[in-house]
Amino acid sequence: MIRIAPSLLASDFSQLGNEVCKVTEAGADWLHIDVMDGHFVPNLTFGPSLVAAIRPHSHLPFDVHLMIEDPLHYIPAFADAGADILTIHAEVHDDLRLILRDIRSRGIKAGLALRPPTGAEAILPLLDEVDLLLPMTVHPGFGGQSFMPEMLPKIEQIAQAIDERGLDVEIEVDGGIKPGTAEQAARAGANVFVAGSAIFGAEDVGRAITRLREQIHASLLRTN
Ligand code: DX5
Ligand code: ZN
Repeated sequence: MIRIAPSLLASDFSQLGNEVCKVTEAGADWLHIDVMDGHFVPNLTFGPSLVAAIRPHSHLPFDVHLMIEDPLHYIPAFADAGADILTIHAEVHDDLRLILRDIRSRGIKAGLALRPPTGAEAILPLLDEVDLLLPMTVHPGFGGQSFMPEMLPKIEQIAQAIDERGLDVEIEVDGGIKPGTAEQAARAGANVFVAGSAIFGAEDVGRAITRLREQIHASLLRTN
């Protein structure tokens, strides 16, 4: 199932409630929320209180991408704030299995993200513990960067592993996603498309979402 997840990082922060309503009404499937702690990545963004503040503005699943050093410590706060999916990074120096189980024990979905240099091997032993995998297509930390096509084989490798094991795991891509790059990622096996600048930067957000969705569907039809 193809899902479009606008990334709040590219929204107008002075109008957050309105921005959340705007993409919700425009037909987004999930809302992607980038949490950065200034340690795991060299940028600072949102905390649990912001997630709680925007929660009443949308019925969409909140897809929270934790780019933080110490995710275990913050899971209860983000779960209570209304996150539906909590994605941690495979590079944090923690027991990943323990954190993923902690997330799922709260009745929400658990995701695992990979920085571009991290190979798929890091997550293959944990496939049973996740609902979503996120091979990043830029170095995490900032919006508006260029898609890294060299990540496509990793997406294919992950898609193949999920297929072979018959698992129901979403494959999300994040970074530099717009019509052309989304098609490449879709053909490699991705089904969730995070887009910040390509959606919030568009004059007509609804048209940007529809166009992205239609182009992904069309490229999959051509492939099959
Ligand atoms: C980057 C974030 C992305 C970011 C994508 O670290 O994880 O979600 O918002 O922005 P674009 O779509 O502009 O590349
Ligand atoms: Zn993200």
